[in-house]
Amino acid sequence: MKKNLEIRDVKSSEVKDIIAFHNATHGDNRRPEHWAWEYRGNYPESYVFGIIKDKEKDRLVGTQGMIPIYINIGGDRYFSGKSENSLLDPNYRGGTLFQDLYEYTVNKCKEKKMCCIWGYTSAGRVWRKKLKFEVYAESLGEAKIILNFGATIFDSIQSKIKNVLKAIRNKQTTVGKIIEGIFHALSGKLKQTPKSKSESISKNKTLTNKEDSLKGQFKIVQKLRSYQDLNSLYKRLRKTYPNLIHIDQDKKYVQWRIFDNPVVKYDTDFVYEGNILRAYCYINTTKRRCGYISDLTFETPDAGDFLIENLISKLRSKKIAYVTFFGNMDNPLIDSVFELLKTYGARIQISNQFFVLRNLSYNDKTVLFDIKNWYLNALWSEGYD
Ligand SMILES: CC(C)(COP(=O)(O)OP(=O)(O)OC[C@H]1O[C@@H](n2cnc3c(N)ncnc32)[C@H](O)[C@@H]1OP(=O)(O)O)[C@@H](O)C(=O)NCCC(=O)NCCS
Repeated sequence: MKKNLEIRDVKSSEVKDIIAFHNATHGDNRRPEHWAWEYRGNYPESYVFGIIKDKEKDRLVGTQGMIPIYINIGGDRYFSGKSENSLLDPNYRGGTLFQDLYEYTVNKCKEKKMCCIWGYTSAGRVWRKKLKFEVYAESLGEAKIILNFGATIFDSIQSKIKNVLKAIRNKQTTVGKIIEGIFHALSGKLKQTPKSKSESISKNKTLTNKEDSLKGQFKIVQKLRSYQDLNSLYKRLRKTYPNLIHIDQDKKYVQWRIFDNPVVKYDTDFVYEGNILRAYCYINTTKRRCGYISDLTFETPDAGDFLIENLISKLRSKKIAYVTFFGNMDNPLIDSVFELLKTYGARIQISNQFFVLRNLSYNDKTVLFDIKNWYLNALWSEGYD
């Protein structure tokens, strides 16, 4: 490594520089208090954040963070690190500098007793070849239910153009790639256009006798009756899926990630059958025209059906154009969510994101590296969507 470069932990006084670096690259509008919530909001002493500083230029040129999150593997709680804010100034890319920064942060994660590091990324090649990660291609999928066709097309083209602009800003593209990107934005849209509108626009299900009876069976509330209910729900789910790997949603986690989130205001629905929590979902409707389902979990198909039916009619009344759900299609429990969403007209696409995983100290590699065990959805994302 060149003498003018130094790798070290971030100082509190440098958080504003990290945010400025991130915003300039990604065209975001994040603020230092968002970073404080993300990294220090849950376990303030356990986060990891490394930077590369060019001392000659007195400039921040690289960042890598790991957010402390407890996951549950087969019924036991383990500390883990969520890889985030991987960024290197374009002028410094192409060598081993980012690898050096990453190894520095991995060692910090080991010191903090994290059992593994995981994340979502589109840069699968970097994580596989340079950072010693297992990379799972084609496991993540996205379901989309269209409620308003015209508004959905408009929104989709707008976000594709935003992505092309971001690639230009990030020097990740050439003129050829820009033209290709615009072509894909348009042709991708054409490909997605259904043969007939009614084929993809969500079925406007009419209440059947069965759904009427579900109304008697289940009750939806917006607040958990007890935080222990989530724990009990996952405990029952693990009877069917003994090696399930899921986020350990204790009171501290849910308050931090969902209720005290400074960026997203989630709508929450909890479906109870008597005193038992059978299904729940967290959904973000604050962004544009999209209802972005962060987590949708159910124990029985009836409870799931009841939850989604209610959700769709609520979103229609809010004039939401489309609903999306993102998750690991290889996990049978997530797959059952995709299957149920399909009955509401959802189309499924493979995501351009990869799940990436590096073991640090977990002893049963067969369980850890089996992608089928990972109950991945958008709750595992950064928390800004
Ligand atoms: C990810 C990053 C830190 C890696 O830096 P690096 O180790 O110096 O590696 P490079 O930038 O040379 O990239 C290596 C390869 O991965 C590709 N790549 C980099 N970021 C990518 C991304 N987000 N999506 C897809 N491919 C990506 C590069 O195009 C390059 O491909 P090539 O070998 O065909 O030229 C750096 O590319 C970066 O800051 N990218 C922008 C931010 C980002 O995309 N972060 C990852 C998202 S979680």
